[in-house]
Amino acid sequence: MAAYTRAMRVVEDAGGLESTWGGVFVPTMGALHAGHAALIERARGLAGGRAVVVSVFVNPTQFNERSDFERYPRSLESDVAACERAGADVVFAPSVEVMYPAGVKVDSPALPAVATQPGLEDAHRPGHFAGVCQVCRRLFELVRPSRAVFGEKDWQQLAVVRAMVASLGLALEIVGHPTVREADGLAMSSRNALLAPNHRRRAAALHRALTEAAEHSDANEAEAAGRRVLLANRIVPEYFVVRDAATLGDVRAGAAARALVAARVGGVRLIDNECWPGSVAV
Ligand code: PAF
Repeated sequence: MAAYTRAMRVVEDAGGLESTWGGVFVPTMGALHAGHAALIERARGLAGGRAVVVSVFVNPTQFNERSDFERYPRSLESDVAACERAGADVVFAPSVEVMYPAGVKVDSPALPAVATQPGLEDAHRPGHFAGVCQVCRRLFELVRPSRAVFGEKDWQQLAVVRAMVASLGLALEIVGHPTVREADGLAMSSRNALLAPNHRRRAAALHRALTEAAEHSDANEAEAAGRRVLLANRIVPEYFVVRDAATLGDVRAGAAARALVAARVGGVRLIDNECWPGSVAV
């Protein structure tokens, strides 16, 4: 393949993507922050002479609540500038009609087992992963990348997309990139912009809870310790659990594990996760 010549473009339909097939892809819903910039820079580093494509599409089929979809921050102009600064070649900003020509309806695919582990995202956001799989599958079909970079902040999403790609037999490598954090540990997220200043301060407790959990080598004690930190900050978690990092089932001795949390802070739903060393450290 000929080396891709850099000159950033914004395209709105699949016809504008042909010259970028085989490139490295970063799917986003916009409202880009430093965490996204890190994903784009990683894609740039992986791309060699190939194109880096960033999609900006707020996918209606992955929101459980209409109000959440409507208030999701939208900022295409500054997103385009951020993509250019981070080294993208193309911003793909499709309309709903381009993405879903047959109309917006949620697919009900057989989800990989990792998507429906009890007590995690699927229990609190039923249908969310069906929407994520639907949009990622469509984006992969239009963008035709050789690699796609996803943030580890959405650990479950990363695992679900990996499983979907494997089950569809797509020739596509899914690359996970470490979470980028604010100085107080809060994971960067487009939703942080919705936090009022007092809630923004309290939200840093999510990362403190994950850090505290990592101090305990027993999974039950780690979960209890993490929940204590949250409750002390008046945050009632939807879940704070330690799970096998790959299957998201129960921890297994000697296998990598992850502490995962979801909680509403001032009405804004936040998620985060960290490596939990307990199962491999002892
Ligand atoms: O992580 C996100 O921003 C979204 O879930 C994704 C992967 C872009 C699909 O809409």
